[in-house]
Amino acid sequence: MCGIIGYAGKAGAEEFLLQGLKRLEYRGYDSAGIAVLDENEIQVVKCQGTLEKLEKRLRQERARGYLGIGHTRWATHGVPSDTNSHPHQDCQERFALVHNGIIENYQTLKADLKSAGHSFCSETDTEVLVHLLEEIHQGEMVTALRELQNRLVGSYALAVVDNREPDKIYALRQESPLVIGLGEEENYLASDMPALLNATSKFHILEDGDLAVLSENDISIFSSEGKEVKADIFQADWDDEMVQKQGYDHFMLKEIYEQPTVARRLLSAYLEPDRVNLPELTEIWDDEIDRVLITACGTAYYSGLAGRHILEELANLPVEVEIASELRYKKNFLDDKSLLLVVSQSGETADTLAALKLGKNSGSRVLALTNTIGSSIAREADAVIDLKAGPEIAVASTKAYLAMLTAFYLTGIKLAGLRATLPERELHSYRQELLKLPEKITAALDRVEESSRKAADYLKDYNSMFYIGRNLDYSLALEGALKLKEISFLHAEAYPAGELKHGTLALVEEGVPVMAIFTRRGLVSKTLSNVKEVKARGGKVIAIATAGTVEDKAEFDKFIELPACNELWAGVLTVLPLQLLAYHTAHRLGCSIDKPRNLAKSVTVE
Ligand code: G6P
Repeated sequence: MCGIIGYAGKAGAEEFLLQGLKRLEYRGYDSAGIAVLDENEIQVVKCQGTLEKLEKRLRQERARGYLGIGHTRWATHGVPSDTNSHPHQDCQERFALVHNGIIENYQTLKADLKSAGHSFCSETDTEVLVHLLEEIHQGEMVTALRELQNRLVGSYALAVVDNREPDKIYALRQESPLVIGLGEEENYLASDMPALLNATSKFHILEDGDLAVLSENDISIFSSEGKEVKADIFQADWDDEMVQKQGYDHFMLKEIYEQPTVARRLLSAYLEPDRVNLPELTEIWDDEIDRVLITACGTAYYSGLAGRHILEELANLPVEVEIASELRYKKNFLDDKSLLLVVSQSGETADTLAALKLGKNSGSRVLALTNTIGSSIAREADAVIDLKAGPEIAVASTKAYLAMLTAFYLTGIKLAGLRATLPERELHSYRQELLKLPEKITAALDRVEESSRKAADYLKDYNSMFYIGRNLDYSLALEGALKLKEISFLHAEAYPAGELKHGTLALVEEGVPVMAIFTRRGLVSKTLSNVKEVKARGGKVIAIATAGTVEDKAEFDKFIELPACNELWAGVLTVLPLQLLAYHTAHRLGCSIDKPRNLAKSVTVE
């Protein structure tokens, strides 16, 4: 979702901004543009469509200079078009401004500005910002931006340049992410760190309300109270190599095969043979806590549904899971006896952040599972588990989901210890099993590669299919169906296996593919009965099971077998063929795998 980039230095700004925008592509966009300052002239080049299109335009209308800002737009207010693309300019074309977020009171502001004589050329909320700046700027940008801030309702990360101060970029942040990168005689601005990893690993993350001024040799940051803030510079442990395809056709495939490394990295950070090393969770734990609530969006939400079973079984606590965009409107739901687990790869999802704030205001203790240290969610939470998946570029999440499940395993064992729900002997054996997980993931990937390809050959010819499972297997079915929908654009629906006959069975006819998941021995015979119902109506069953779980395979048309595994940890193995199935199906259909239509990686608006 919208990406911002900024450059102040000695090299050509145009090239830096273009490369930065390419690195922001993964967030999702439909238009792009840049503004570069050459002496006292602002050159704006922008268009609807891909960055290749912008690059072509830049060959015709060069934008040379040493300072500039750029933007990838994901349309919210107004269709994707050249005029709605950012940067936007004021009537005098003195300023150029890019924005990520939503200005909720833009209509009132626009009406007032129109009455004052301003003329608008786009339908965006963003254009209001630059005209308002023109209206209130009285010679000093910091003061004008503070005034602007006071008049705005909504969320924004914005960057603005002024042709009378051609050596400076001004930036403001309120609820939408913005980071500053520090270089040698150059400084940068971006919506996220991966966009700048080719240039630096030194970052400062802006807080809500912060105003920043960047030039080639200097950065100044002011808090919302107007006080100058010392930059809190940290060294990211992500590097540029992590955001390259490394020989794979797609980031998604690279990220699928990276999963053994991700699990190893996460487990070695938090798991020792005799304990789960999560002191922050111990610190916020209180014996009065009598329930866990998990909240998230998208894939992270599905990891929460799987996490619920893990926590319930290990820690013997009631666990509820709520979609963040729903939880945030609930009243009297959270209290000081709740532990709120907030799950987010990006750490910036607007609804998840709002749900977190609701939890904090209700007195709940908040544990965040996030892949982005320094993100808003990581900073607001009381305790954090760093998922350590490394930057995830493909829009469809794979390695972050696996890291989320693994983090739930760690949390489950930790809570079981804190609540003394299981004897130490049993916890010890769970920890031992968990330490072996990375090897099992490697073995599982080897084992299912071929069978997943073959199953994809079948799926590609159907435009509708179903995924079924019971208990933990149902939550895995949901994630499997989501992966397929996201990248192959085929209709896929997940059902609790027992519910199939209460409606969806009406859609099962000759050849319709049904994926059945089996990881829980005690539930095999029940799900097998549902498989028989599918077969009786001509459906084709593709079964996924861990070795030794299902004996009677007579009804399966295709069978994807995973290595044997402790039932509780089987989720991270089962998700592998589901991811590969989605990938190979989308590949056979010629879909845009890493950047599926209409989707954004980081959803920073509500
Ligand atoms: C978007 C992405 C998904 C992601 C979801 C939640 O929908 O396309 O891949 O699962 O947001 O994002 P988060 O960063 O909070 O995990």
